[in-house]
Amino acid sequence: MRAVTVSAFTADLLAGLRSRPRRIAPKWFYDAAGSRLFERICELPEYYPTRTELAMLAAHAQELARRVGPGAEIVEFGAGASRKVRLLLDALAAPRRFVAVDISGEHLAGAAAALRDDYPGLEVETVVGDFSADLDLPPPRGCRIGFFPGSSIGNFDPAAAVALLRRFAGWLEGGALLIGVDLVKDPALLHAAYNDSQGVTAGFNLNLLVRANREAGADFDVDAWAHSAFYNPPLQRIEMHLVSRRRQAVEVAGERFEFDEGASIHTENSYKYTAEGFAALAQQAGFGTGAVWIDPARRFSLHWLQPLTQEERR
Ligand code: TRP
Repeated sequence: MRAVTVSAFTADLLAGLRSRPRRIAPKWFYDAAGSRLFERICELPEYYPTRTELAMLAAHAQELARRVGPGAEIVEFGAGASRKVRLLLDALAAPRRFVAVDISGEHLAGAAAALRDDYPGLEVETVVGDFSADLDLPPPRGCRIGFFPGSSIGNFDPAAAVALLRRFAGWLEGGALLIGVDLVKDPALLHAAYNDSQGVTAGFNLNLLVRANREAGADFDVDAWAHSAFYNPPLQRIEMHLVSRRRQAVEVAGERFEFDEGASIHTENSYKYTAEGFAALAQQAGFGTGAVWIDPARRFSLHWLQPLTQEERR
């Protein structure tokens, strides 16, 4: 027998291309180049969630700080550039520690260094890892508050979202979770947010193929693939796909895959919720309903959720 070790990315890519429908999990978007492209998405005029959530965090900073209390620890899942957490940190009374979790180590190190410079009294710890799989968090220091902005929860299908929230609840016992969730709205606004006129989102989606070529021994002709994103109303989600522009064969780690013209690889979902719908989902995961904020244009929501204790769950 020949033992072949492939990276987690290569193994997942091969499994996803063998399955039907074909898929690649969105966590693989975030290599160094993908993380940078994602920062650009957040700045796009069409991409309202980042701007809206930042404005909401600023508008409610005092109330959030009151809820968090002094001496707390903030754990951000998918910390990225850590721009949003600064609004929280600025308002908090003597935050004890910031734990930044991200799948992209390079990106995380840069963000953490900048935070250490700007918040001299704050302990900043980084954890490079996949919060949807196994993750080793350091033991808590002070009341632990989870921060999960950007509607990243929408990138999990509802069953997986409940499972993830349940893990968060376990990590946040006695604390709380502050989570940003994109709302259902006019499909035209959703469509524009994932089909920007500068093609940045397309580049972000296609970067998966660039990464596969570099890291997984693939020979994708990137120009032979197109970005496709559309809203699926019955499932209340944006779907992103990579669509083959012609009939072609691609090799990945020595394995051959054939694609007809128009064949797709499903790369991401972004589920949209009503405030009530999301509160119900969180309840299934063991959270009590805390507080919900919605921006004046009703585009985005922030939820403050507290894990129920064993007794409360009974
Ligand atoms: N979680 C956010 C969303 O679904 C951000 C995001 C993840 C995103 N992947 C994306 C935005 C791809 C645009 C394109 O909206």
